[in-house]
Amino acid sequence: MVLWTRLAPEPLAEDGSGGMRGRGVVPVRWEVAEDERFSERVAHGVSNATPELGHSVHVEVDTLRPDREYFYRFRVGGEISPVGRTRTAPAAGANLDRLAFAFVSCQNYPAGYYTAHRHLADEDLRAVVHLGDYIYEGGATGSLGRAHAPAREVVSLADYRIRHAQYRTDPDLQRSHAAFPWIVTWDDHEVENNYADEISQHDDVAPGDFLVRRAAAYQAYYEHLPLRRSSVPKGPDMRIHRRLRFGRLAEFTVLDGRQYRSDQVGRNSPEAQDPDRSMLGAEQERWLLDGLGASTARWNILAQQTVMARADRDPGQGLRLPMDNWNGYEPARQRLFDGVVERCVENLVVITGDAHCSMAADLKRDFAEPDSRTVGAEFLGTSISSGGDGADMDRRGEQWLAANPHMKFYNQRRGYVRCTVDRDGYRADYRVVPYVTRPGAPVSTLAGFVVENGRPGVQEA
Ligand SMILES: [Fe+2]
Repeated sequence: MVLWTRLAPEPLAEDGSGGMRGRGVVPVRWEVAEDERFSERVAHGVSNATPELGHSVHVEVDTLRPDREYFYRFRVGGEISPVGRTRTAPAAGANLDRLAFAFVSCQNYPAGYYTAHRHLADEDLRAVVHLGDYIYEGGATGSLGRAHAPAREVVSLADYRIRHAQYRTDPDLQRSHAAFPWIVTWDDHEVENNYADEISQHDDVAPGDFLVRRAAAYQAYYEHLPLRRSSVPKGPDMRIHRRLRFGRLAEFTVLDGRQYRSDQVGRNSPEAQDPDRSMLGAEQERWLLDGLGASTARWNILAQQTVMARADRDPGQGLRLPMDNWNGYEPARQRLFDGVVERCVENLVVITGDAHCSMAADLKRDFAEPDSRTVGAEFLGTSISSGGDGADMDRRGEQWLAANPHMKFYNQRRGYVRCTVDRDGYRADYRVVPYVTRPGAPVSTLAGFVVENGRPGVQEA
């Protein structure tokens, strides 16, 4: 359990200090209680907010009981924070009956209101999983009165701090954070569009210069999200891949598909089939397969960034594949699928962001052979706001459904995916809002899909 806050009385202060310039180390008192009024306080302490980490606070509390709801708050001087609610994970060997969580991604601030977060906060969930694009790095203004601060592409640590602080001023996002514990990983826009490891999308930026930017971006990300000490950045490096277990029912493997990946190559380039190219890097890839092989959980959930299923846009004989997701890293994907089969990994479910649309697919050992073995299911969740209002269908959706028999469903509205898992099945409900360019949209369930225990792949609920 990590309790997070940041001292930022002026979140958009131009120096990135959050209004804490010259304040040095500030002791922050924290307290955890079993009730919202804090009459049953069960843990408390003091954590130092330092300027080196933007006066953020990450408290790891390990004295709480497993599988219980708690409330927490912070105090500094006469100030007291709003109350957050959280829930500890069940003990590792516990027989958890049911796990409900939601996953989200892609919350471009100028593009729309975070109405989906507002509705998500009213759900009955154990956790929220964020799959990346927590911020966007550009200088967009949009037309909704939600222009990016600062009003330029962010590059420096001060810039990234201001951008994160701005996103955190959103009341719907605050509500979502305050309602549940969050499990986070990043995608590209936390640093720069489509970057790969030390390679910028701009060919004229040298890797050494890009790593300076990456270090700033990773640090601001760490400062603004509830991450453990094990994720404190070391220069331009930061470990975010990790495992989280919910009793014997589910294990989340949280992946990092950006920091260690090989550079993207051009479509139809023979280099795309080079087995030395990697999405996760050799070390994380080994760690992933070792972990899956050793897992005793009923459901093995990969929480990760980009589309894994083949996503061909050519309904004819040819292949037109996107190159920034697993489609551009086919040998790496094949190693993963082969490894899953060789290790007899059961009940594999991949949850994905990045694409700003909803999709559900069977993961095939050989996508060219519709009869080949299904190794798992993929649920792609749409954006919170990126892309604006969206539509039920678009050209990409028509092409995907026509060219990819393993895909079962497509929709391009905004929202989140609510997942309910028990020993018999994994259910995904696509929750959508009809618009995000005005506040106040209602939420509804667009479609539901299930994976049955022992039967890989997606079925209509
Ligand atoms: Fe995105």
